[in-house]
Amino acid sequence: MVRRNPLIARSAQPQVEALLRQFPAVALLGPRQAGKTTLARALARARGRAAVYLDLEMPSDLARLTDPEHYLASQEGALVILDEIHRLPGLFQVLRGLIDRGRAEGRRAGRFFVARVGLDRSAQAVIRNARRAHRLCGAHCVA
Ligand SMILES: Nc1ncnc2c1ncn2[C@@H]1O[C@H](COP(=O)(O)OP(=O)(O)OP(=O)(O)O)[C@@H](O)[C@H]1O
Ligand SMILES: [Mg+2]
Repeated sequence: MVRRNPLIARSAQPQVEALLRQFPAVALLGPRQAGKTTLARALARARGRAAVYLDLEMPSDLARLTDPEHYLASQEGALVILDEIHRLPGLFQVLRGLIDRGRAEGRRAGRFFVARVGLDRSAQAVIRNARRAHRLCGAHCVA
């Protein structure tokens, strides 16, 4: 019988949970194979139906975001987890718009969790702007 090794508890997980209670969006940036997806799935599991997990490397999940504004707006009330978000660079602008709109309507925390590898120039710019405006939490929580 093959027995799976139990997961090692990650200090990043309670940190991410705390940030999600405070900010509308939390970003997890880390190197390949650091455990980003595992952590993202653990967040989804803990929430059950109150979370939706999308892996943007999967064509079926990507297809759900053909009209991202409409799809994401339809998930209000759930934590939307967007793994491998670098596959859809234009999504950051949509998230920002939805976060702004949500804030005006009183939804201030725990809306989006995004994970991706590395930090290219567009991600750096988003995080810089986000920090400045307190819009997104650019937490560099390497899992
Ligand atoms: N908390 C953990 N305890 C034990 N093993 C883990 C843990 N988190 C991840 N792993 C293992 O590490 C490997 C990489 O995990 P995962 O796929 O979550 O990483 P990733 O950062 O999403 O990788 P990629 O950058 O390729 O998308 C997997 O084999 C996974 O089972
Ligand atoms: Mg992954």
